Amino acid sequence: MIDSTKPIDGATPLDDISGLKLSKYKVYTLKEIYEKEAQNIANATLKYLAAPPSKKEAPFSYVWMLDLHEEMFGDVWEWAGKLRKVELSIGIKAYLVGMELKKLCDDIEYWEKHKTYDVFELAARIHHRAVQIHPFQNGNGRWSRMLANIYLRQHAHMPVRWQEDLLASENPKRSEYIEALKKADNGDFKALIEMHKVTY
Ligand SMILES: Nc1ncnc2c1ncn2[C@@H]1O[C@H](COP(=O)(O)OP(=O)(O)O)[C@@H](O)[C@H]1O
Ligand SMILES: [Mg+2]
Repeated sequence: MIDSTKPIDGATPLDDISGLKLSKYKVYTLKEIYEKEAQNIANATLKYLAAPPSKKEAPFSYVWMLDLHEEMFGDVWEWAGKLRKVELSIGIKAYLVGMELKKLCDDIEYWEKHKTYDVFELAARIHHRAVQIHPFQNGNGRWSRMLANIYLRQHAHMPVRWQEDLLASENPKRSEYIEALKKADNGDFKALIEMHKVTY
């Protein structure tokens, strides 16, 4: 269970609630906001993960990647699907975000065409690059993991079950996950790739 009073390790603190689309007449706890987000994300999960999505449904194009974030967070946040304009502690400089995301889409196309990596490594690399760029104000982790899961599902594998587990800071799996991301930052993708093989 998420403790709504404690900030979550490594996750964006929700001190900026200015983009919140929910009622202005109610003060929401972090837990309530996470629950609204989870309901919103559940729709995207159903759309993309219930059955293998086609290339047309999930093209891994630039516009689609932004749309996916909007589909996951658009009921709750004004800035859903919009590139961030602010600097964050994680991620590249805000002015580079659009260009780097486009580059990632081009790289995915290249990797697929040239069969550079197997499905698990490709999913891991999409995940890692997406979260490294950190295109949005928040929700980058959940969006990146969703991207990886959609990629796996599109390529005859079941999605990884991380959505629920990775928010709580007490969860030992979370530190393992952050460690795997940090290793990938240094070019060692082994641990992150292994995590993409643990499916339902
Ligand atoms: N050093 C790090 N500490 C915490 N999270 C990290 C770190 N490096 C990368 N991340 C990624 O950033 C995500 C948190 O970004 P955030 O935009 O708050 O996403 P979300 O709101 O979905 O959790 C983590 O889930 C993880 O994928
Ligand atoms: Mg966050």
